[in-house]
Amino acid sequence: MRLLLPKTTIHIWLVFPDQINDEALLARYVDILNADEKKRWQRFHFAKHRHQFLIARALVRSTLSCYADIRPADWRFIFNQYGKPEIAPTLWSQPLRFNLAHTDGLIVCAVVWEHALGVDVENVQKKHETLKIAEHVFSKQEVADLVSLPEADQTERFYHYWTLKEAYIKAKGMGLALPLDQFGFRFIENHGVEIGFDPCLDDNPSHWQFWQFKPSLHHIVALALQAESSASYHVDMKTVIPLQTV
Ligand SMILES: CC(C)(COP(=O)(O)OP(=O)(O)OC[C@H]1O[C@@H](n2cnc3c(N)ncnc32)[C@H](O)[C@@H]1OP(=O)(O)O)[C@@H](O)C(=O)NCCC(=O)NCCS
Repeated sequence: MRLLLPKTTIHIWLVFPDQINDEALLARYVDILNADEKKRWQRFHFAKHRHQFLIARALVRSTLSCYADIRPADWRFIFNQYGKPEIAPTLWSQPLRFNLAHTDGLIVCAVVWEHALGVDVENVQKKHETLKIAEHVFSKQEVADLVSLPEADQTERFYHYWTLKEAYIKAKGMGLALPLDQFGFRFIENHGVEIGFDPCLDDNPSHWQFWQFKPSLHHIVALALQAESSASYHVDMKTVIPLQTV
C-alpha cells in the first residue's frame, strides 16, 4: 500500500545500523543494489563502513518504494555535478525529493515533494578540535558565539552549527563548493534558528526553513528545506528496519 505524503509534510526515516545483524536480511539488501552500488560496497576496507553503506542504500530504496509502485531494486538515480542524487525522471516523473546522511550509529533519509532539501547527522562523541575547525570554516558570528559559551557547552553547539551548515549545502546540492564562512546561523531564544547570507551568495533567508532534532543521546540531525519561511511544514520522524518495517 502506498504511503501518503502530504505536500507540506517531510518524512524523516532513521535506521540505527548496529541493530541490524540478521544475515538473511543483509543478503536481501545486497540483492537490491545496482552494479555500481555493489562495486562501491565491496571497495570499503572496514566492515563497519561496508555495513553502513549497505543499510543506507537499503533505506533509500525501501523508503522510496513506500511512495510509488516501484520495487526497491528498480530505483535509478541521476547525480548533479557535485554528486547529489535524485530519482531518475526517466524512471518516475513525480517530483519526490530525498536526501541521505550517515554517521557512526545512525543513518537518516528525508523525503518531501518538490522542494530541495538537505539532511545531516553527526555523532557528538566524534573527537574533533572543534574550535580550530570553527575558526577555519564557520562565520565570524558563529565563532564568536561558540567562544562565548562555557567550554562544556561548546562541543554540542559546534555540532548544531555543523549539521545546519551541512544540511544547507546539501539542500543546495553543491557540497563544499559553497564557502562555509559566507553564510551563518543564529540561535534565537525560543524562536529556533535564523540563517544569514553574505551578499555574494545571492540567497534569501525567507526562502529557507530549518529543523534540528536529537534522536539519540549522541546524535544531532539537521534538516534544511528550500521553501518560503511563511509556509507551515510538518516533520514526521520514524525509526525503521529496511525491508522489514518499511
Ligand atoms: C558531499 C557531501 C554532501 C558529503 O557530506 P558528508 O558529511 O561526508 O556525508 P553525509 O553522510 O552527510 O551525506 C552523504 C550522502 O549525501 C548525498 N550526497 C552526495 N553528494 C551530495 C551533494 N552534493 N549534495 C547533497 N547530497 C549529496 C549522497 O546520498 C551521500 O550518500 P553516499 O555517500 O552514501 O552516497 C559534502 O557536503 C561534503 O563533502 N561535506 C564534507 C564535510 C564537511 O567538511 N562539512 C563541514 C560542515 S561545517
